[in-house]
Amino acid sequence: MEFFLDTGIVSEIKEAVLLGIIDGVTTNPSLIAKTGRKQEDVIREICGLIDGPISAEVIALDLEEMIKEGEELSKIHKNVVIKLPLTEAGIAACKYFSAKNIKTNVTLCFSVNQALLAAKAGATYISPFVGRLDDIGHSGNDLLSEIRALYDNFGFTTKILAASIRHAAHVREAALLGADVGTMPLSVVKSLYRHPLTDKGLEIFIADHKRANS
Ligand code: E4P
Repeated sequence: MEFFLDTGIVSEIKEAVLLGIIDGVTTNPSLIAKTGRKQEDVIREICGLIDGPISAEVIALDLEEMIKEGEELSKIHKNVVIKLPLTEAGIAACKYFSAKNIKTNVTLCFSVNQALLAAKAGATYISPFVGRLDDIGHSGNDLLSEIRALYDNFGFTTKILAASIRHAAHVREAALLGADVGTMPLSVVKSLYRHPLTDKGLEIFIADHKRANS
């Protein structure tokens, strides 16, 4: 399973790179707004920090503008993935970019039928939002497993990018359900390392070592 960092904050990306386990980055307009910087500047800087897929989202709602924006974003760096909303125009734009071999990430996916449309349009990634579904009492995990079954049934190569991951259990479940990628905040990545028995075991090993060598 690939790990993407879900942020636009460069200091977090620099810190995460040092962990040696981050494969790419996803951003969205809300994450970019938090940086107080222009999207183009943020994406360009991130592309210099990680040699992997970097998702940058279009703002336009109509096809023509989406294509124009996506083309501008794709000029920033070869690793830029055009993030498109799961709308009629977004799926048509996805088809357009797929035909040009430009990578796409179809976002705001909340149903299997939406994931089917994205795969048919040749999306590189589909982003089901597991956390936002859980928030309204639905099951993000059910959606992940149904999309996995659907893509396997038909041999679609679109990668399942589990998004809106809020905690360590989401990561575990997405991995076990066969998501190809999980995108998550740095705090969630860091929480994956922790287990009280690891801390306790380490404490005992160090104490025993000190006793034996004193
Ligand atoms: C990433 O591609 C998504 O935009 C992001 O994971 C959404 O997360 P949120 O639901 O926590 O805002």
